[in-house]
Amino acid sequence: MHQVSSSSQSADAGGVPFLERHQFLIYRLFSLAGLVPVGAFLVVHLLTNASVLGGPEVFQSRVDMIHSLGPLLPVVEWAFIFLPMLFHAAVGMAIIAGGLPNVGSYTYSGNIRYTLQRVTGMIAFAFILWHIWQLHAMGKPLGGGAFDPHHAASTAATALRPMLVAVLYAIGVLSAVYHLANGLWSLGVTWGIWTSPAAMRRASWLSVAVGVALGSAGLGGLAGMRMVDVEEAKQVEERMAEAREMLSGKAAAQAAVVPVEDGSQGE
Ligand code: HEM
Repeated sequence: MHQVSSSSQSADAGGVPFLERHQFLIYRLFSLAGLVPVGAFLVVHLLTNASVLGGPEVFQSRVDMIHSLGPLLPVVEWAFIFLPMLFHAAVGMAIIAGGLPNVGSYTYSGNIRYTLQRVTGMIAFAFILWHIWQLHAMGKPLGGGAFDPHHAASTAATALRPMLVAVLYAIGVLSAVYHLANGLWSLGVTWGIWTSPAAMRRASWLSVAVGVALGSAGLGGLAGMRMVDVEEAKQVEERMAEAREMLSGKAAAQAAVVPVEDGSQGE
């Protein structure tokens, strides 16, 4: 797997490209990033979205939980999602462009899974960029950022209403799911978890099971968003926002009252 030629090794300090010199470590980090945190995030994200099947109030409470991180949220997003994903995508692009040989998990280059892994990686990349622009607050200066965390289901449902958007989402989500599920198999080869042909066959079934479960969650979430009654969802979200405000108002009032009580006790 570590295919650095002897001539390039001898030229180590000199003309050997950085990627080639650190190929083994870069592959391991690339592989690990695909599983944790990027793959783990994809699982959590799709399950959160699928919670809309329980109604806009369930989805809103999940979103509230995430946004309760407040100013820490962008830090968490960059540290655990965007930067690892950019790193994985950059190395993936280098592999696809031929700058680095593939990790050697596949036996021959005509293998359909080998090709699909690369194709779905590229589709997922384009989809994720578009998805971030369309829904994430970072897309706002560029005319996107349609998702409002205080009106989670109604704004997501509105953004996904056009049929073309829904079809593109289905393609993007299924590509990301295939990429992760099949990637689990090649990751097991990369790390030497399954080495015999029989173990690799069993691992293929694991990939299929993960792919079907995650694909169902992804498409279920998408269908759930499209079934949302936007007006009804807005009313639910307004009521939940009012309840949140009341609770935080009460908490603030209690906090203000405590010193007075303390003071009177002290008299
Ligand atoms: C949805 C986000 C993504 C997830 C969860 C993910 C996950 C994974 C996993 C788990 C692997 C297996 C690693 C291994 O074989 O050791 C993998 C492989 C790969 N990924 Fe990703 N990835 C994502 C996005 C991307 C993007 C945006 C690209 C860039 C085009 C990309 C390109 C690749 C390539 C080329 C491989 C195969 C490497 C090889 O077999 O030589 N991935 N990915």
